[in-house]
Amino acid sequence: MKRTAVCLALWLAVTTAGAAVDLAAGAAKAQVCFACHGPQGVSQTAQTPSLAGQPDGFLQWQLVFFRSGVRKNPVMQPMAASLTDDDIRNLAAYFAAQKPPAAGSNGAADAALYAAGQQLALRNRCASCHRDDYAGMQAAARTAAQREDYLLSALRAFKAGTRTGGGVAAMPDVVYPLGDDELRALAHFMAHLP
Ligand code: HEC
Ligand code: HEC
Repeated sequence: MKRTAVCLALWLAVTTAGAAVDLAAGAAKAQVCFACHGPQGVSQTAQTPSLAGQPDGFLQWQLVFFRSGVRKNPVMQPMAASLTDDDIRNLAAYFAAQKPPAAGSNGAADAALYAAGQQLALRNRCASCHRDDYAGMQAAARTAAQREDYLLSALRAFKAGTRTGGGVAAMPDVVYPLGDDELRALAHFMAHLP
């Protein structure tokens, strides 16, 4: 199947390492990213995610998805188009090593909305992939203290089918039965994790 072949090609791009990661090269390349993703990858920009402290694997996958066009975005596709496999490994290693956004960086939580999101997260077993502290692992994103506006737009994109992941991700299935109020509560909960 075509989709399987694409996945295999992407997987090889992510896993056939060989060369050692060059953190200094990653830091140098990352300078242009700061304009939108914030200093050291802690975003101050609406609708733009923090990259600091994301799992290395998640960052590599997303950059490969943008570069191949599997993940669509008018800003990020051209940014990723010229990145080599080495650039992607170095950038991912650099951002994964940065300090993630601090708890509380999204301001005070609405107690009722937070509690509703927490219940939904339990019922839908979000932590089984994103970890109990929502720091993420492997291909699954860190969502703890991520910008709330971005979390909500990501969940809506999975729900609308405009973001599909690489065929290995379960997110479209996870959000399929959820309504927009539920997506809002989940985004609020993750953005305000202590
Ligand atoms: C002009 C602004 C801009 C620049 C410069 C930029 N980005 Fe982005 N980036 C974005 C936006 C906006 C998104 C969110 C896209 C979406 O909503 O799907 C994004 C998303 C991402 C994501 C997905 C993160 C996630 O949590 O899903 C990664 C990884 C990423 N960018 C890496 C980079 C890297 C590495 C660079 C530098 C080489 C860079 N970006 C430069 C605007 C930018
Ligand atoms: C079976 C594993 C799994 C489960 C369960 C799961 N996720 Fe995910 N999640 C992932 C993976 C993998 C990704 C990366 C998706 C991609 O590559 O596009 C992701 C991405 C996300 C993103 C986008 C983050 C970003 O920075 O782009 C959000 C938000 C998210 N998940 C929230 C949730 C919530 C809320 C739940 C529970 C309702 C949940 N996830 C359950 C595996 C999972």
